[in-house]
Amino acid sequence: MKVRVGIVGCGVVGTGVVELLLKNSQTIRKKTGIELILSKVADRDWQRPRSFHVPEGLRTHDYREVLEHSDIVVELVGGKEFAKRLMHEALDRGKHLVTANKHLLAEEGQDIFLKAQEKGLCVGFEASVGGGIPIIKALWESLVGNRINAIYGILNGTTNYILTRMLEGGITFEGALKEAQERGYAEADPTLDVDGWDSAHKIAILSYIAFGGFFPFSQVYAEGIRHVNLLDVELGRELGYTLKLLAIAKRREEELEIRVHPTFLPEEDPLAKVSDVFNAITVEGDFVGKTMFYGRGAGAHPTASAVVSDIVDIAKYMVSGLPCRRSINWEEKSYKLSQNFYSRYYLRFDVPDRPGVLANIARVLADHHISIASVLQKEKVCKIAGREKEHIVPLVILTHKAYEENMRHALQEIKSLPVVASEPVLIRVEEEAE
Ligand SMILES: NC(=O)c1ccc[n+]([C@@H]2O[C@H](COP(=O)([O-])OP(=O)(O)OC[C@H]3O[C@@H](n4cnc5c(N)ncnc54)[C@H](OP(=O)(O)O)[C@@H]3O)[C@@H](O)[C@H]2O)c1
Repeated sequence: MKVRVGIVGCGVVGTGVVELLLKNSQTIRKKTGIELILSKVADRDWQRPRSFHVPEGLRTHDYREVLEHSDIVVELVGGKEFAKRLMHEALDRGKHLVTANKHLLAEEGQDIFLKAQEKGLCVGFEASVGGGIPIIKALWESLVGNRINAIYGILNGTTNYILTRMLEGGITFEGALKEAQERGYAEADPTLDVDGWDSAHKIAILSYIAFGGFFPFSQVYAEGIRHVNLLDVELGRELGYTLKLLAIAKRREEELEIRVHPTFLPEEDPLAKVSDVFNAITVEGDFVGKTMFYGRGAGAHPTASAVVSDIVDIAKYMVSGLPCRRSINWEEKSYKLSQNFYSRYYLRFDVPDRPGVLANIARVLADHHISIASVLQKEKVCKIAGREKEHIVPLVILTHKAYEENMRHALQEIKSLPVVASEPVLIRVEEEAE
């Protein structure tokens, strides 16, 4: 069977998809019996050099030509407004969709999925999370028999590169970001990556599938790595922890916790060993237990591989004549996300090196039902403006598991103690221990 595929947006990923379809269509036909025909490719600018030559006959400036000549429309433009309009128009014209647009799907995907469902059309979005890692297909197919209790992982290569360089190279956040930009791993405007939004989009999409239901994206907690201080990365290492930007989705009874933040992991945790631009995702299911997925989370070729896997899946549905079942079921359940997280904490206070300081802080923590697991005090002197005459040192406290609300109240109180010389640092710690 022949299936016509058209692409709108021929940038990094679009060019990768053109290359894969033109180079490997015979391989795909041999494996599946499906002949994928690249019909049209739309982009605004055909003068720009690309990593692969797109034949003249395929090029157009007009996305409507893609809609006209395709059974499956691949949206690789990115951004929200035009992409959303394009997807609605494609569905209205009875076209199946493939997209890598996590930003749009996470924040405003509901209408698109509902329309696709109504019309019996497919929306493939494997490439929206984890680049080449087949995590969405795994959740839908391989792990379908499980009640998923947790998904967590490193979903953003840019921030993982920056944290790896801070840890291994001993350089500051600003230095590591500059290096990432020079190597093409970070955009000129790195906000979505560095402030945690890209990871938040991805963990929201995984959660929609894994927990079967809807929640407003605005309730997802996102904290990035912009404020991460090299001192904490190094003190964490002394305590046996590695700092990662972790995206976490957990089910607690009927409540969901979905959050992205810098997180200390025990250095022996497999996720702690995932370095540079690599991504890794752990899924915990009630029957399968823990499974981990690892690979390149971005780049033209890995992402194109994921896009083409969706194209082939949709083509198989078309051959089978069955209605497409692969869509997020938003109506199943509506979740309210909990903001009162339950976790361990690393706290750093800059305090004068004198007796009684620790006791003061410990008393406030105890008042808020937070118990201390261990304490580390360094002799290294911190320079704090206005307190140059004092011998100020970093005091690190690791707590047992506690509720976030209690922690917020405790920190508010501790901040007002005269001994605390600067804003306390809080980093959550994920480990099995209580
Ligand atoms: N890059 C990755 O590794 C990666 C990984 C996973 C997912 N994604 C997702 O994949 C999507 C595409 O990313 P990308 O990195 O390939 O972006 P990109 O390199 O910026 O490519 C987008 C292309 O679409 C073109 N375009 C914009 N508006 C258009 C319009 N109205 N009509 C036709 N063409 C238009 C752009 O042209 P101009 O440059 O002239 O605007 C550009 O050539 C995004 O949703 C992204 O989040 C990317």
